[in-house]
Amino acid sequence: MFPGLSRNGPRTMSRNRSCLYLRDVQCFCKEPWVVYIFDMLTHPAKQSIKMAVPLAIGAATIAVLYAGKRYFEGGRCHSTKRLDGKTVVITGGNTGIGKETAVDLAKRGAKGIVGCRNMEKGKAALKEIQERSGSTDVFLEKLDLASLDSVRKFADSILKSESRLNILINNAGIMMCPYQKTKDGFEMQFGTNHLGHFLLTMLLLELIKKSAPSRIINVSSIGHTLGSGKIHFDDINFERDYTPYEAYFHSKLANVLFTRELSKRLEGSHVTVNSLHPGAVKTDLERHFSAYLQILVVPARW
Ligand SMILES: NC(=O)c1ccc[n+]([C@@H]2O[C@H](COP(=O)([O-])OP(=O)(O)OC[C@H]3O[C@@H](n4cnc5c(N)ncnc54)[C@H](OP(=O)(O)O)[C@@H]3O)[C@@H](O)[C@H]2O)c1
Repeated sequence: MFPGLSRNGPRTMSRNRSCLYLRDVQCFCKEPWVVYIFDMLTHPAKQSIKMAVPLAIGAATIAVLYAGKRYFEGGRCHSTKRLDGKTVVITGGNTGIGKETAVDLAKRGAKGIVGCRNMEKGKAALKEIQERSGSTDVFLEKLDLASLDSVRKFADSILKSESRLNILINNAGIMMCPYQKTKDGFEMQFGTNHLGHFLLTMLLLELIKKSAPSRIINVSSIGHTLGSGKIHFDDINFERDYTPYEAYFHSKLANVLFTRELSKRLEGSHVTVNSLHPGAVKTDLERHFSAYLQILVVPARW
């Protein structure tokens, strides 16, 4: 006898357990998936038809998810072109698409200048860019696109230190943030994504022209087609009615319109101006998304 166990105890417990067990088994056998498996094992003729349905649904789901992913991620660059001797400025290079682009351009031999608003994050990113690319010809400069004063200081520093600028990539961006204004009083997404880059491009344009053939790349988004499709001249800072997604689409439309107009004005100068949608990429851009929206975009960004 074990200490603490009465003679009646174990017998009572085993009676209770066996009753529970039988009842559980009865319930368990009525579970639809158990009935389904039992049916399939005992009726081999039905087996193939019944298997075909879930398999077809599974395969169709995977095919739709994969097709969606391929559609949203867009094209891939397979160019092996070298960029030795070229100088590139890229904004927002401390994370996401900007950082990956900086690594790729440095691997191709370009001199890179990365503009970042947060120097601590910028230093860590610079170290990573240099290590991954194997190039030490990459530099960091402070740039806050939400401050026109900071944009001017950044451009001044480039104009003083560089004798050429072959590629300007206006990449930095902010998406669907709560209502905020830039230091100069513009709605944050329009001010950062468009106005900051507009001023930067204008300040560097003479150097870019002097370095031709050269190019300006404005990272926009497919989002420019999703909003109202117009520039809100009557309420440019969304003071009357702010919706975070409409303000983002608005800023991205401004990127595209700016690109089209500038490319017209630079015709014949050997400066190419393009805007692009980079595809759906999993980055920090969704930092202001609600939990619900983050789940909703998973099929496009896995
Ligand atoms: N990811 C996508 O699926 C997707 C799709 C379409 C278009 N895009 C566009 O791609 C570009 C890059 O986005 P991402 O996906 O790489 O996003 P991300 O990971 O959030 O990177 C955005 C970069 O912009 C910087 N930035 C934000 N506000 C700034 C400011 N005021 N001054 C200077 N830098 C600022 C960020 O710096 P901090 O780290 O300091 O915030 C960061 O380096 C954006 O223009 C975005 O609209 C992305």
